[in-house]
Amino acid sequence: MIKGKITKSEFFSLTPRQKSPYMLSDSGSIKFLINTQQFTKDRLFSLFKISDYIRRNKKNHESLSYFMSLLVGRTCALYFTQCSTRTYASFSFAAQTLGMNVEEIRDSNMSSMYKGEAELDTLLTLAELSDLIVLRQNNPELTSILTYEIMDRGIDCCLINGGSGSDQHPTQALLELYTIFANRGIFDDNFPPFTVAFVGDLLRSRTARSLSFLLSLFPQVKQLFISPPELHMGQDLLDHLSESNVIFDQCTTSLDEQLSNADVFYMMRIQDEYSATSEKLYKEYMDYYLTIDKVSSMKKEAIIIHPLPRRQEIPIEIDRDPRAKYWEAVDRGKFVRIALILDMFGINSLQKIDLRIYPE
Ligand code: NCD
Repeated sequence: MIKGKITKSEFFSLTPRQKSPYMLSDSGSIKFLINTQQFTKDRLFSLFKISDYIRRNKKNHESLSYFMSLLVGRTCALYFTQCSTRTYASFSFAAQTLGMNVEEIRDSNMSSMYKGEAELDTLLTLAELSDLIVLRQNNPELTSILTYEIMDRGIDCCLINGGSGSDQHPTQALLELYTIFANRGIFDDNFPPFTVAFVGDLLRSRTARSLSFLLSLFPQVKQLFISPPELHMGQDLLDHLSESNVIFDQCTTSLDEQLSNADVFYMMRIQDEYSATSEKLYKEYMDYYLTIDKVSSMKKEAIIIHPLPRRQEIPIEIDRDPRAKYWEAVDRGKFVRIALILDMFGINSLQKIDLRIYPE
């Protein structure tokens, strides 16, 4: 599509869906990934197909050296000023698997921001020096601000939101959906209805928001929100679900009553780093913890996911239950991130991977 030049105020007045075309490169790849409203069903299934292919070949030495050649010489900058274990390591491994050079800033006090540089200038420096920036930080607006600056200045650099405050974490949602679909044997849009329960702090969990937005592409998936009343899903998300004809229930407060009703349980820790949390709420939150007994009341084929890190909401003993898929999701995350990075650099179908050497 032809995109005209857009002013800053015009750009910021667009809804996330309206912004989507500006997030694409001329060839139609995603150039800037800010939120999950940008995905289309076709792109998701194609990403999952490529992820599966690479994951199947992950121990094959020949395949690994081939993957290493795909983006050799390109540079990925990890700007992670907010704490992270999995997203950071996963992107670092993903970029290295594709042969990219990886640079990082994890502490703003070790960058020129310590000398008073504006954060945007630090990020523009990385944009000038890299082919891809992955950004995890506290400000929900910063990824859009940087995107606009990169776009308007014509800088040749892609961007991925690796977590923006309590707003969005699109690649976490991508790996959760990949895990859900893989476990339910879903490879295209033609699948029977099922229910996803989101459990816990839904108000401040960016991963819950991103997954809920992403699932809204599939109105056959019912969404059940189970949380203390103080931590209900945000109204913007509920409005979006209504507009997308998604069936949802946002006022369920009891986890116990819903254990046999859902096919997927997405568990959340309390996100107390974003705002004050009362002692009373910590106590109340214990009702949203899983126990071995609660898990045994779930359907046999239900699955449990969690973005991690966990606190007490999933005791470690549950890891051995076949329904627990959060560690599998960590592994899938690396491959779906590899597929996403490849897509951003134009390798967006298996035809573009050399299947003569590594058959599907
Ligand atoms: C999540 C995050 O940082 O939003 N973790 C992650 O990236 N895998 C979830 C959380 O911190 O609870």
